[in-house]
Amino acid sequence: MSLFWRIFALNAVGLVVAAALLLGPVTVSTPVLPAEAFVVLVGLASLLAVNAVVLRVGLAPLGRLARAMTDADLLHPGARAVVSGPVETAELIRTYNSMLDRLEAERATSAARALSAQERERHRIARELHDEVGQTLTAVLLQLKRVADRAPDDLRGEVGQAQEATRAGLDEIRRIARRLRPGVLDELGLVSALRSLAAEFTTHGLTVGLDVRPGLPALTEETELVLYRVAQEALTNTARHSGADRVELRLRPAADGVELLVRDNGRGPGPAAGEGAGVLGMRERALLIGATFTFGPGLGGGTAVRLRAAPAALPPPGGDLR
Ligand SMILES: Nc1ncnc2c1ncn2[C@@H]1O[C@H](COP(=O)(O)OP(=O)(O)O)[C@@H](O)[C@H]1O
Ligand SMILES: [Mg+2]
Repeated sequence: MSLFWRIFALNAVGLVVAAALLLGPVTVSTPVLPAEAFVVLVGLASLLAVNAVVLRVGLAPLGRLARAMTDADLLHPGARAVVSGPVETAELIRTYNSMLDRLEAERATSAARALSAQERERHRIARELHDEVGQTLTAVLLQLKRVADRAPDDLRGEVGQAQEATRAGLDEIRRIARRLRPGVLDELGLVSALRSLAAEFTTHGLTVGLDVRPGLPALTEETELVLYRVAQEALTNTARHSGADRVELRLRPAADGVELLVRDNGRGPGPAAGEGAGVLGMRERALLIGATFTFGPGLGGGTAVRLRAAPAALPPPGGDLR
């Protein structure tokens, strides 16, 4: 029954009963006798009590809806309010749920668009760094070599230093370009890209253990890029925040596709650590390929980042990521 008819029926019953009683056996004198006042008050109290119960029951779904709205988080999609209650409330909950469907779809599309624009821009900057700045520096290096060949002895040391500095700059630019755009991903595939990532993050203070299990399913380009970017951000966080001396980077086949795990032996994210742009970015990328993502303290301490992706994850509605 709709909320309208429930309340209307309740009021009608109360009023009809009161009217019937007044027309029938009940009389109210002026001034009121104690016995009459007692009957009227008991009647009123029972009417109010029934009213309260009916309203409480009828409005409870609205309270649940309000809680669902407060808890809704587009980064953890899929949660929906239970449709229940009188017709109007059920309709409201259904409308809210379909609004969530639309918002989640729109968010996925715009996140895909933003991330794809970001990847394109990274690609462009990496290419320009490599092709333009890199070429210029290479030309400078060649010129310096010619200068060094003809320079008098007292200048040769300084020219040598300039050559060294230029070579270091060139290396740095190649490194930045590689980080911006994992070219190895296109050329050599995910496993080699992860290997070079592991090598890049292995320093005197930190050892990256790469563990790639056999039997990995074929992955789409989008999935590979998401796995790579998540591993990159997780390793960056380990290097920056964890104080760990060991981090494990594991890729293995899972029942429903593939699982990436980055786990360090550091101090752990701690209860106060909020999710910054890095973790939100990982979450968003995971959503794009319909993967499940978890970030939190590891079982034996430290921090664990886990991503589980299906092998044939469909490309997102916003198009591809590259
Ligand atoms: N491996 C880790 N070890 C310890 N703390 C971490 C680790 N990864 C993330 N955190 C904590 O989680 C927070 C959020 O990380 P992130 O979203 O990447 O932001 P940012 O790296 O920009 O601070 C970090 O500031 C840090 O406190
Ligand atoms: Mg970070």
